[in-house]
Amino acid sequence: MSAPDLLSPSALEQARDTALAAFAAAGSLEELAAARTTCLGDRSPVAQARRSIGSLPGTEKADAGKRVNVVLQAVTAAFEARRGELEQERDARVLVEETVDVTVLPTRPVGARHPLTTIAERVADVFVAMGWEVAEGPELEHEWFNFDALNFGGDHPARELQDTLFVEPADSGLVLRTHTSPVQVRSLLDRELPVHVVCPGRVYRADALDATHSPVFAQVEGLCVDEGITMAHLRGTLDHLATAMFGPGLRTRLRPNYFPFTEPSGEVDLQCFSCRGASAEPGAPACRVCNSEGWIEWGGCGMVHPAVLRACGVDPERYTGFAFGMGLDRTLMFRHGITDIRDFYEGDQRFTLALGTEA
Ligand code: DAH
Repeated sequence: MSAPDLLSPSALEQARDTALAAFAAAGSLEELAAARTTCLGDRSPVAQARRSIGSLPGTEKADAGKRVNVVLQAVTAAFEARRGELEQERDARVLVEETVDVTVLPTRPVGARHPLTTIAERVADVFVAMGWEVAEGPELEHEWFNFDALNFGGDHPARELQDTLFVEPADSGLVLRTHTSPVQVRSLLDRELPVHVVCPGRVYRADALDATHSPVFAQVEGLCVDEGITMAHLRGTLDHLATAMFGPGLRTRLRPNYFPFTEPSGEVDLQCFSCRGASAEPGAPACRVCNSEGWIEWGGCGMVHPAVLRACGVDPERYTGFAFGMGLDRTLMFRHGITDIRDFYEGDQRFTLALGTEA
């Protein structure tokens, strides 16, 4: 088309009407963008008309320019108006489509709390109900708390016996705590007497991972220091805990043992909750839970050593105390017949779900 044809009022009107119809017909922002290219782009009739103004005789330029501008403004305004409409439509649709109903119940299985967390709380609850406090300490512990204050001698082989993970540099004085007993020391230093604390927590040993050993496991510690505390209190407390964890009627048994921080020290055994001790009788059917011994080794205990009391500024002439510590993994393994400690640390959600809620 020649310049006069392109710039004729009828051609411009037609270009305008076509553009307005195309914008009105665009049903989405994408379609509108395509219509814009056709109707307002470089090769659109309006753009071509504008470019052709230059080739008109000077007297006609001004008029033609005005005509083009009027059309251009009309088309641009129609485009903007339609874009506004389509954007509003899109926003309204997104609001509906992406609405989240926060009241809908989950259809996929949710996670569960870890069974070791749950049992630690159950044990803590047993003691809190008797007026004890829950105490915690750091897992990265100073040797003084982990050993010295607990009456382990400087070169005492017991330091090695605990398969300690020492922390570099060698003279840092830091270890990954090998037991929860340092929380006894921290509790005695922090609190006024009498002290009744239960201390669940993670502990570390340089053990290879196998079905019955893990370099990290969980313990719970108990400590009671007051005037007139005797082993009878210890015994009664352990029996109470055993009943709370395993049901009524199970007996406990103390066997002599050695721990630097208690004197006398004992190993606490629990009557096998499966055969209730019957498998140890001659001719009785075998029990896999206790290897037909009738008893299961549960933890250590004893009367707090005077040296520990002294290290914590407690007068052993006036105060006595008892302490105990046992593995929580082990306790759970008894309760649920779990034979592989690795199940606790592999993070398999099926295991956690099966045990987590009712450990
Ligand atoms: N801390 C000991 C260990 O990990 C267990 C233990 C024994 C704790 C006797 C105590 C106790 O409180 O009195 O092997």
